[in-house]
Amino acid sequence: MGFKIAVAGATGNVGREMLNILSERGFPAAEVVALASSRSIGTEVSYGDKTLKVSNLETYDFSDTDICLMSAGGAVSLKYSPKIGQQGCVVIDNSSAWRYDAEVPLIVPEVNPDAISGFTKKNIIANPNCSTAQLVVALKPLHDHATIKRVVVSTYQSVSGAGKDGMDELFNQTRAVFVADPIESRKFTKRIAFNVIPHIDVFMEDGYTKEEWKVLAETKKMLDPKIKVTCTAVRVPVFIGHSESVNIEFEKEITAEEAREILREAPGCLVVDKRENGGYVTPYECAGEDATYISRIREDATVENGLNMWIVSDNLRKGAALNAVQIAELLVNRGLIRPRSKAA
Ligand code: A2P
Repeated sequence: MGFKIAVAGATGNVGREMLNILSERGFPAAEVVALASSRSIGTEVSYGDKTLKVSNLETYDFSDTDICLMSAGGAVSLKYSPKIGQQGCVVIDNSSAWRYDAEVPLIVPEVNPDAISGFTKKNIIANPNCSTAQLVVALKPLHDHATIKRVVVSTYQSVSGAGKDGMDELFNQTRAVFVADPIESRKFTKRIAFNVIPHIDVFMEDGYTKEEWKVLAETKKMLDPKIKVTCTAVRVPVFIGHSESVNIEFEKEITAEEAREILREAPGCLVVDKRENGGYVTPYECAGEDATYISRIREDATVENGLNMWIVSDNLRKGAALNAVQIAELLVNRGLIRPRSKAA
């Protein structure tokens, strides 16, 4: 039995990673189709040891495709996802276009797998923001144990979260610094090479950025609406891997050692927490890895029942492509979809 899968945005950072992960994890695909804009028709992308030629999303007929993994940006998703869903193909969308829609489940399989059953209303399932995905993977087991009241997050987000263009801008600016060429900023609002920028996505009326708002809205939607969350989201000159400094206040008592034990057993989490030089994970080391790494777990003596920790993950994988493929696996494993293609 195999499913017909389309990857829309297959030429982008996340789309390429989706193809890698489908192949790596042996997803039961009878056929995989790569889609992007008309600019990319005929471009070749890899799927395991195969090469796929890219077709045009705009003219593609989804009527015998089972799942579309979509990572082509919010505007493209708003335009195409409802039409694809109406053709009976389930869209798993990586953009923020559908995440806050009450009729669209927002899923991290380690956190709220049961919410997936609501997908039939629109045939769309949303993948969370990259910073939120790794955050909730670590928060969920701690919340189950000691009930989280409030979370303060500061993010250190890599440029790959801004797509291929973001990575190119860091590379080109870094090179320009060394050869004394003029620095050009197109994707980011200030120079990113040898700098950090406390601004991701657009500003909102209250002074927060949309990226910061997403972390709180999505944590509430997936984990618990009662949890208070505040966030400062910062872009850093790292190619892959988002890091987060997280301060958590609990209702019940929880020690650093208890948190370490709970996280060691938790799905998707890997604790690397030796209190010595190098006894923690940095984004460079987590690139290409699936886990959410947790380091620097320690008690915060300035509040009752407080902990601090450092959470790192590959934003293109758990923060995007891996989570999307895990959602597809959840659909299949729970028998929520059946293959309808002749290729099956
Ligand atoms: P294309 O390469 O044809 O522009 P990233 O976020 O890494 O920049 O990737 C964005 C992805 O979304 C790319 O695969 C890009 O394809 C795709 N994309 C952008 N605009 C469209 C569109 N109008 N229709 C289909 N795919 C699109």
